[in-house]
Order: sequence, then structure tokens, then C-alpha cells
Amino acid sequence: MSTTARLAVGRAAAERVQPGMVVGLGTGDTAACFIRALAERAQQDPALGSLRCVATSRRSAQLGSELGLLVIDIDTLESHAAHPVDLTVDGADEIDPRLQLVKGAGGALLFEKLVAQLSRELVIVGDRSKQVQALGEKRRLPIEIVRFAARHTLPRIRRIDGIRDADLRLTSDGTPYITDGGNFIVDAAFACPTQGAAKLHSALKALPGIVETGFFLSEATCVLISDDAGHVQTLQR
Ligand code: A5P
Repeated sequence: MSTTARLAVGRAAAERVQPGMVVGLGTGDTAACFIRALAERAQQDPALGSLRCVATSRRSAQLGSELGLLVIDIDTLESHAAHPVDLTVDGADEIDPRLQLVKGAGGALLFEKLVAQLSRELVIVGDRSKQVQALGEKRRLPIEIVRFAARHTLPRIRRIDGIRDADLRLTSDGTPYITDGGNFIVDAAFACPTQGAAKLHSALKALPGIVETGFFLSEATCVLISDDAGHVQTLQR
């Protein structure tokens, strides 16, 4: 994804933020462009001083704080509200024509899903390289699993109908990648018809070692796609 495209969608998403909002900060390179654009807007517009942000990862919390945004603990928000977060902006690995997503290449899928489901609006930022006809076309599905018995969970994931292959995600030094939630990630190649993603998600969630999958099938309310020249297209659910 080009820098121009990232900057363009980051800025377009930041324009959607209104004074007084609780804003969810996504994770990844494109979400980081949004965080920078939002911090820039907040510096220029005193009315945005009332913003409060919640983050989907430690690194996004750190970036937001370093840039002067007020990043609060999500558990300090009123819990009775259906949507305590007004607007979250996040990236994606794949986006299909129904605005179904695969997310989690950056390893933050669990907190991203928690924040997404607590948000009134989830705006996804990306470029055309993220658009696919069917999920699984280009990228693997990240699956967050508990560390206990991980060696036994992996072959069970491989046996699920629709999963072609699955491997534990490793860091550059060969040790398992550990998420902010203290879990492992499995990356799975898969094939399923468009209608089948929900079925595959349910089958995976039925395994006791699985915490969450990177399928975001209904969360995105809007997708902002930029071309390499920085022209942004809006896709609304
Ligand atoms: C983080 O876990 C992911 O869901 C990212 O949002 C996703 O991988 C997109 O990242 P980039 O914007 O870096 O491509």
C-alpha cells in the first residue's frame, strides 16, 4: 500500500471525528496514519481537545499518547451504553464486496474486535490492494489461541472443513509471537464461499483453545479506499 494512499485515507477518516467523541484507535500502518492525522487536527482545532481515545493495542496507545491525544482505559467508559465508543478507525488485510473483512496480520485482532463491537461506527481504511472478491484470496486468517495446549490446538484447526493449512506465527528469532492479550496466533490458509465465512468462524470458535478469529463479518459500517494518487472512495454498508 503506497504512502500517498495511507495518508489520504488517514486524513479522510480523521475528518469524520467530531468534538466530544470517544475515538477507537486501530492498529497497523494505515491506522497509524489516521492517529497522526487525528493528532494534527486536534492540535489545530481547540474544540477537539475534548476527545478521548481508546486503543486496540499497546503500540497504538503509545503512538496516540506521544502525539498528545488523551488515551484512556476502555474500562473507564460507561458500561451500560451499547456503544460506548463513537467511532473507531482501523485497517484490514482483506475487504470483500459485502464489507466483510479479514484482520489481524498486525497481531491485534482480539482487542480490535472488542473495540469494534463496542463502537457505533467502524471505519476501515485501506487501498485497492486490500479488496478481494472472496475472503482468503490473498491472505491467511489470523486466529488467536491460548498458549496452553497450543501444540494440540494446531492440528485440530487444520482438520476443520475449509482450512487448508495452519501454522503458529513466529517472530524473527523463531519464538512464538505473543499478543497484547498474552496469547499465540495461528495463521491459516482457507477457502470458503462468501456465505461460508460465518460457518468457518463458528467452527473455529467451537474449539476450546481458540480465543478469536480475524473474521470481521459484520462490524465495518464504512470502508474508505484510496488509489495510489490519493483519491478516496467511500463504501457504505
Ligand atoms: C492489526 O492486527 C491488523 O488487523 C491491521 O489493522 C491490518 O493488518 C492492516 O494493517 P496495515 O494497515 O498495516 O496494512
